[in-house]
Amino acid sequence: MGKICVVGLGYIGLPTATVFAGAGYDVVGVDINEEVIALLEKGQIMIEEVGLLEEVRKVVKSGKLRASLTPEEADVFIIAVPTPINHDQTANLDYVVAATSSILPYLQKGNIVVIESTIPPRTVEDVVAPIIKAFGVDPVQDIHLVHCPERVLPGRILHEMRSNPRIVGGYTKEASEKAADVYRRVVTGEVVETEATIAEMAKLMENTYRDVNIALANELVKISSKLHINAYEVIRLANKHPRVHLHSPGPGVGGHCLAVDPYFIVEKAPEEAKLISQAREVNSSMPSFVIEQIVRLTASLFRAKIAVLGLTYKENIDDVRESPSLQVIQLLQQYKEYDVYPHDPHVQQGKVNVPLYSLEEALTQADLVVVLVEHHEFEHIQGEQLLKSMNRPVVLDCKNCVKIADERIKVYRLGDAILQKGLD
Ligand SMILES: NC(=O)c1ccc[n+]([C@@H]2O[C@H](COP(=O)([O-])OP(=O)(O)OC[C@H]3O[C@@H](n4cnc5c(N)ncnc54)[C@H](O)[C@@H]3O)[C@@H](O)[C@H]2O)c1
Repeated sequence: MGKICVVGLGYIGLPTATVFAGAGYDVVGVDINEEVIALLEKGQIMIEEVGLLEEVRKVVKSGKLRASLTPEEADVFIIAVPTPINHDQTANLDYVVAATSSILPYLQKGNIVVIESTIPPRTVEDVVAPIIKAFGVDPVQDIHLVHCPERVLPGRILHEMRSNPRIVGGYTKEASEKAADVYRRVVTGEVVETEATIAEMAKLMENTYRDVNIALANELVKISSKLHINAYEVIRLANKHPRVHLHSPGPGVGGHCLAVDPYFIVEKAPEEAKLISQAREVNSSMPSFVIEQIVRLTASLFRAKIAVLGLTYKENIDDVRESPSLQVIQLLQQYKEYDVYPHDPHVQQGKVNVPLYSLEEALTQADLVVVLVEHHEFEHIQGEQLLKSMNRPVVLDCKNCVKIADERIKVYRLGDAILQKGLD
């Protein structure tokens, strides 16, 4: 075993540090956020992820995982800092540049440096390697530099981190071999060696594939709306074809992967990436489409109270980054005639800048419930509860997840022909 320095202790870095520490490595986890470090020193964490707190406690207690505000000498450096998007939809590489710069004074010959952050194609080649070279360390001769992207599913991060196949893209062939061996110590899935640029592009295309397919489903909803066709029934029947898998429509695409990564490709080849760009546009337009349905469902009301259920970008997690729900709420608030009551059992008030309410507060006297996220809590909402609390028992289910079969409650779904044909 050896020593690993993980830079960036968020949704990816902290589980990564924990998994390596659990496998017997001495791990120092580094973050610039003092709160993250102070909590980790006590075996506590800031993020919600299934099983993570228990595993963190164990490795902190055993001394295998330590927390620090500054990097230290190690055998392997793993950089897992954010790569958000700038206003002009280009990748913001400031964190990657800062994190890479922060490890430079600690680099020794033979070290492995892994960029796990998602990055635009050619970033290792054109950005990271030159930073290392400028410091006087040769990224070919002195160290082993690789890109090893993550593809875990929030909610299953620890499991997938250990079992998913991994792509290890080296700046040199030797670098991919050396780094792949490290990952093979903790990963049961296949660890594939390739070049850095191929690994960068493969990661981006994984998320782009999903974004484009969701856009196709969302476009189907819009087309079906115009033609008065039930989109869900179309999807159900088309998917009976053995080689067709239409995705599920929804109120948009969020998270800092699917809603961001395709832009990293568009940025590098805008003329060529036309379909990718269009798919982004379709998915980004969905919050407005939801608003159109809300307006129709409340047309007869004066100052409607709207309970908005679900703020995260996907179900059963606490992550609100790039969440379409926040856009829906923002758009609703621009309509001065709505009283908007957001509720999310997974999100703490400090994480969002809209006021949050309990389910009871949100439902009481509401004229419409809009379900934007498929949290398991919302699948089990009882008709009786809505009848008891709401002013008018009407639901707009944007994720096709509400299971209420009570004729006294009107449940409309985003791709429903009923909703499109007109309301009774
Ligand atoms: N979250 C996911 O599900 C997921 C999946 C695949 C890939 N990724 C990619 O992994 C990368 C990290 O994402 P995340 O979700 O873990 O981000 P995050 O925001 O949850 O965590 C990043 C952490 O890095 C810290 N940080 C920022 N700059 C630093 C620096 N210079 N030195 C030390 N710490 C620093 C921040 O304080 C934060 O705690 C991104 O590139 C993301 O696109 C994320």
